[in-house]
Amino acid sequence: MDKFVIRGGNPLVGTIRVSGAKNSALPSMAAAILTEDEVTLENIPNVRDIETERLLLASMGAEVELRKGELKDRTVINCRTLSDPVARYEIVKTMRASSLVLGPLIARAGVARVAMPGGCAIGGRPIDLHIRGLEKMGAVIVQEHGYLEARAERLRGAHIVFDKITVTGTEDLLMAAVLAEGDTLMENCAREPEVADLAALLSAMGAQIEGAGTATVRVRGVTTLHGARYRINPDRIEAGTFLIAGAITGGDLIVANCNTSHLGAVMAKLEEAGARIDVLGPDSVRVRASELRAADISTEEYPGFPTDMQAQYMALATQAEGVSLIRENIFENRFMHVQELVRMGANIKVDGSAATVRGPARLTSAAVMCSDLRASASLVLAALVAEGESIVDRVYHMDRGYERFEEKLIGVGAQIQRLGNVFAPKESAVFAG
Ligand code: UD1
Repeated sequence: MDKFVIRGGNPLVGTIRVSGAKNSALPSMAAAILTEDEVTLENIPNVRDIETERLLLASMGAEVELRKGELKDRTVINCRTLSDPVARYEIVKTMRASSLVLGPLIARAGVARVAMPGGCAIGGRPIDLHIRGLEKMGAVIVQEHGYLEARAERLRGAHIVFDKITVTGTEDLLMAAVLAEGDTLMENCAREPEVADLAALLSAMGAQIEGAGTATVRVRGVTTLHGARYRINPDRIEAGTFLIAGAITGGDLIVANCNTSHLGAVMAKLEEAGARIDVLGPDSVRVRASELRAADISTEEYPGFPTDMQAQYMALATQAEGVSLIRENIFENRFMHVQELVRMGANIKVDGSAATVRGPARLTSAAVMCSDLRASASLVLAALVAEGESIVDRVYHMDRGYERFEEKLIGVGAQIQRLGNVFAPKESAVFAG
């Protein structure tokens, strides 16, 4: 299991580039199931979850190829050869977003067998809303032996009102609706930019969609979709994580290759916390900070403050003067990073879905353990300002969703060493950057 050895105390200075959005890439790859033609995707990040999805599609008979280009790489997916519409547990258990293949498989093959994803570190994460929506579109779904077995001659358009806003639920049903017979009206949809990104790809494939990225989405079903070439948007969570890295280290960082229009809530909160934010253009933003002050956050669906930025923001709050109240409204049990931050010296009290952070705390180096993707980022950020040399263990969680995270941070002055061997003597760590 890889770990990072991080020496804290360096302000991050320079320019750091954001990769493609993992959470757009995952549904976009699943969308390729909907056509027999080639779908070419650019800006797919090289992270573990994407590799898992590649394996998942390949296990169903699809061809997925990474073509290296002089200027850009592209992922080419061909589902003409799709022969086995089964998402096996061995693959699904490592990535909950695998449920995104359910809708497209029923729409394309009329049948699907998808392993139930099970719980995960940040709560139960059910998929009942995906199932209910597909049933409303005419699918017959039974749950047996840990698998969902779904069947439908042809899905038919329906009126779907989500009880609760769900990102992948909206995406899954959108992919089902584009090939359904007739019109679908979906209300209380997720407004996340990743939904709009997926809809833009589907439209390029010939789908008829209106309103994606708003709460109400209308789809007119078509009989077939064709291939398309599409460039995935930059990752707003990676961009936000870098903004916090710049602010927490008292640095001067330009976050480039991002989409600043997706960063509104995070930038506003960082300004409230005393950072100076200068939007340099549609795709780049500069962050500087010297003194940080407490500011409360409350996670919400987009365009509110993202739950995927809560853990990283908490690391920042440990360095801010005063008391910050952090409310987690989207997921239960998403405070796994708290105990680890406390071990580094943070003063945090949790009461149900709220955490109170008193700062600034003097963080000192410690050995800490990642519990999930965004918690990993939080611990790395804390280690960047902790005195001495911290060890952040189990960074495989981080590798699920951040592309070359430590390399990018090293490029702007962080001192991070990845150790691939748990038993490697600590003295062998040579600090780069
Ligand atoms: C997506 C993101 C994840 C992000 C989350 C919230 C991807 C691949 N992942 O996850 O990074 O943290 O949005 O922004 O895009 N729920 C139900 N029933 C369902 C579905 C969801 O009760 O059928 C609940 C969940 O338990 C949770 C809430 O709805 O409390 C939101 O979850 P959802 O938006 O579905 O999260 P994901 O799409 O899994």
